[in-house]
Amino acid sequence: MIFRQLFDSVSSTYSYLLASRRGGEALIIDPVLEKVDRYLQLVKELNLKLVKAVDTHLHADHITGLGALRDRTHCITVMGEQTKADVVSMRVAEGERVGIEGIHLDVLYTPGHTDDSYSFVMNDRVFTGDTLLIRGTGRTDFQNGDPRAQYESIFGKLLKLPDETRVYPAHDYKGDTVSTIAEERAFNPRLQVKSIDEYVELMNNLKLPNPKMMDVAVPANIHVGLAQEQIARRGWALSPREAMGILGNASVALIDLRERGEREKHGVIPGSLHAPYPELQENIGTGGMLHELARSTGKRIVFYCAFGERSAMAVQAAQDAGLASACHIQGGLDAWKKAGGPLTR
Ligand SMILES: [Fe+2]
Repeated sequence: MIFRQLFDSVSSTYSYLLASRRGGEALIIDPVLEKVDRYLQLVKELNLKLVKAVDTHLHADHITGLGALRDRTHCITVMGEQTKADVVSMRVAEGERVGIEGIHLDVLYTPGHTDDSYSFVMNDRVFTGDTLLIRGTGRTDFQNGDPRAQYESIFGKLLKLPDETRVYPAHDYKGDTVSTIAEERAFNPRLQVKSIDEYVELMNNLKLPNPKMMDVAVPANIHVGLAQEQIARRGWALSPREAMGILGNASVALIDLRERGEREKHGVIPGSLHAPYPELQENIGTGGMLHELARSTGKRIVFYCAFGERSAMAVQAAQDAGLASACHIQGGLDAWKKAGGPLTR
């Protein structure tokens, strides 16, 4: 397995590059914008294909690399369902999995540092974001932070993981790189409390200054910019209403790019075909399923996904591959639902 812990010394952020093999699919956790060139160089050197970029929460101390990685690799950007960030193309909730070839991360909702904080468990290790740090915990005094929720996340979820589980946080300011659940339970000074009230009291009296980057990073991380705006300007977007008007039309092939778990959870548009985004390149190339479908039937290809981000990238790729009829449903299934569009399971 490939497991790389990468450090940004300006914000003391750890990012993690994961892959099951050289030449295979890769995933990155908590990338920092200024380091994107470095990540992509490493991805290339290891002959990897970056397919997913995950943020554990909306960061206040650095600008996320999610947008730049999306623009340069067309990877899927992932955050928890509570996030306000616009760059996200796949939102996950507790109990779901984030998967790539040979690796899956189990999703734990661990709010407290922020209300959109998640941890990700991969076999013998856990990526804790800023919920649990090495001998510390993430502050809870801004961004809808809540010490009570954080106590529950740490004591009720993270400390319930097996003792030997390795803890990989999103930051360290002292030079530590890894810890374990047992070590943190025993030696993390913030966790040596007798009750939730004692923890709340402790966290409410830290009196920390705001992070230097906060006024810049939070707004920048909320509005990274959508892939869909450009696609709409080119005339390749349908509103949910327009899409409803052509539903069932024999000259249209509606293509669902989401993963199986998303389809099961949120439902599908009736009559649509399933062609997951990670297999897009094969599907739109010569001999690919969508390429041949469009060519032999003359059907118009209409992509959709959860929020319109993956489908916007798919439209561009399909247009580049010569599928001139390709378009997508702007805003994805989320907008479709809000407009009252029909769904099946
Ligand atoms: Fe944070």
